[in-house]
Amino acid sequence: MATAYKTTAYERFLDYASRGDPYPLFWELRKTPVAQQPDGSYVVSTYREIVSLLHDPRVSSDLRNLPEIANIRIPAEEGVPQLPPEFIRRDPPDHDRLRAAVMKHFGPPGTPGRVAGMEPRLLEIITELLDGLADRQRIDVVDDFAYPLPVAVICELLGVPREDEPLFHRWSQISVETNDPTTGTIVERNRRRFETLAKLGQYLDGLADAHLQNPGDDLLSALVTDGEMARPDVLSTSALLLIAGHETTVNLITNAMLTLLRHPEVLDRLRGDPGYAVKVVEELLRYEPPIHMPGPRRTALEDIDIAGTTIPKGSVIILVLASGSRDPARFADPDRFDPDRADNQHLGFGGGIHFCFGAPLARLETRLALTQLVQRLINPRLVVDPPTYRHPPNLRGPLHLPLDIDGVR
Ligand code: HEM
Repeated sequence: MATAYKTTAYERFLDYASRGDPYPLFWELRKTPVAQQPDGSYVVSTYREIVSLLHDPRVSSDLRNLPEIANIRIPAEEGVPQLPPEFIRRDPPDHDRLRAAVMKHFGPPGTPGRVAGMEPRLLEIITELLDGLADRQRIDVVDDFAYPLPVAVICELLGVPREDEPLFHRWSQISVETNDPTTGTIVERNRRRFETLAKLGQYLDGLADAHLQNPGDDLLSALVTDGEMARPDVLSTSALLLIAGHETTVNLITNAMLTLLRHPEVLDRLRGDPGYAVKVVEELLRYEPPIHMPGPRRTALEDIDIAGTTIPKGSVIILVLASGSRDPARFADPDRFDPDRADNQHLGFGGGIHFCFGAPLARLETRLALTQLVQRLINPRLVVDPPTYRHPPNLRGPLHLPLDIDGVR
């Protein structure tokens, strides 16, 4: 008789077969809010517990707390030095110091700052991209729009030449793959990430020198000229922003178009009322978020008692943000796409000290992108539904999203 092989709900969620619709599995996951897995890690899936751990100083984002990661040393081949971890993977006080050093170049809190000032330029880039599709009957939302838009924006913001895109596109992809818990061991993934970060850092180091000589109105120039951060931290911070700018917004815009085409009444309302985009984007971040689990896994610095379970010191903790955002204890009728829902405090941008740094930019980009897409694409229709998804379970979005259109207005 064959031995029954029992997988946990989390393991089934990781399985690529669940990528198209992982949401039914979240109901199962949430039956055990804090669930120990066969590999010893703890998966947390309910809103209240996730929020509590996001704000808990005993929970670290610095994987160097795991000795096998701390001991990784990549050989300094051809003078490529290993960079310190980016601030998303650091704890206070370093995290706070580095985040504040970048934040100050975005304008003081409460002021519109650099991001709001980017609106006219964002519209220009969006208009250029859509004008370029005027003769087409079929487009791919990913390749023709949702990928080039954020890449152009983050390059301009940082002061990275867009022509160099093919060069760092691959590094950025590898870096994202190293967050995929379904490929290789945690040590293999981190070694690969350190190697990639070093190469990207070497490229950015050359640019940083050029910007120091000849500063522009960009973030890299601001970081190298104000001298507040040591050069290795400038490089890992810039790499973090470049990668985050490449790999997240593309999925939000693509998930958004798919969801709108599945809910034509919302799409029609948005077409007639651009102001509705604010609510639509927030609900998309709850309902179809790009980040199902943060890239940096957490570790417990002490024993943590939560929801009747003790997470022992040293354990890996996995926060399933996307499940928290669909928790019926927090959101009424959570599997319904309803931009009008009140009190929509989703976990799409995380929470606590690591709350997404790029949230104002991602919100603005996506709001403008969707408003223009629904106004300008004539009669857009999905060619396949569901589309083929990217491999990682943590950063979720379609690989391509082909649409038939009757032209562009
Ligand atoms: C952090 C989501 C766009 C920069 C985060 C986190 C999430 C997130 C969930 C928390 C990670 C954690 O707790 O470990 C998203 C989504 C985006 C987006 C859904 C697009 C729709 C961006 C953009 C940038 C950016 C465009 C860059 C300009 C960052 C940075 C952090 C971060 C630097 C680390 C913050 C810290 O550790 O203090 N993001 N992000 N993000 N995001 Fe985003």
